[in-house]
Amino acid sequence: MTAVLQLSDVGVTYGRGATAFAALQDITLAIEPGEMTLLLGPSGSGKTSLLQVMGCLLRPSHGHVRLFGEVLAADLGVEAMAALRLAHIGFVFQHYNLFPTLKAWENVAIALDIKARPRATQRGQAMQLLDRLGLADRAEHYPSELSGGQKQRVAIARALAGGPRILLADEPTAALDGKTGQGVTAALHALAHDEGVAVVVVSHDPRVEPFGDRVLHLEDGRLVDDWRPSRSST
Ligand SMILES: Nc1ncnc2c1ncn2[C@@H]1O[C@H](COP(=O)(O)OP(=O)(O)O)[C@@H](O)[C@H]1O
Ligand SMILES: [Mg+2]
Repeated sequence: MTAVLQLSDVGVTYGRGATAFAALQDITLAIEPGEMTLLLGPSGSGKTSLLQVMGCLLRPSHGHVRLFGEVLAADLGVEAMAALRLAHIGFVFQHYNLFPTLKAWENVAIALDIKARPRATQRGQAMQLLDRLGLADRAEHYPSELSGGQKQRVAIARALAGGPRILLADEPTAALDGKTGQGVTAALHALAHDEGVAVVVVSHDPRVEPFGDRVLHLEDGRLVDDWRPSRSST
């Protein structure tokens, strides 16, 4: 398997001089397609910073990042980084970030619009994506008419608009109760296994752990554990 993302000796330092703070240090790892990688660690351990580096949202202070084997230049501009994100990476956040005045399908279609997919195909593609997340019958509903788990699945459908090969989710279940959170985590796991997407999920909830093919553990900005739970079936 070819890694979709490779980080070599990555470090992130916020601030400078006396207030400089090393949020990440010496991170070397590769993210593979077709599996769900969990990024666990206590609050403040650097999970969001690491996800932002993976998602080309944050340029590392040290080391380098390879996307599909290509090294991202250290002087890559903001616009070039945005173009890479748009083409390859889907994001899911804790608070869904749906537009309240748009129906479920329109929330997905707007992402297709940003990715310059033809207007005439947007509704159909949005419906397909919602259907994949088990939400075909909720397409005409507004976010206020959806449960937390349904809203998060709309957000996942939107993140998949345009077919990114990498899906990054930052605490996607933090606002959900345990059972709903498990449903959302199972949906993310299925995307990795059924469609070969590289899925990385940040969490500090140990209940998501059984869904991970691989578990990365961060503490004080360092990778302290990287393991693959063995299971009888997946
Ligand atoms: N923009 C920033 N400026 C300064 N410090 C930051 C910034 N973002 C995060 N940090 C600090 O870096 C550390 C790691 O933060 P973060 O990556 O958000 O961790 P986590 O997601 O695990 O809670 C924390 O101590 C946090 O306060
Ligand atoms: Mg965080």
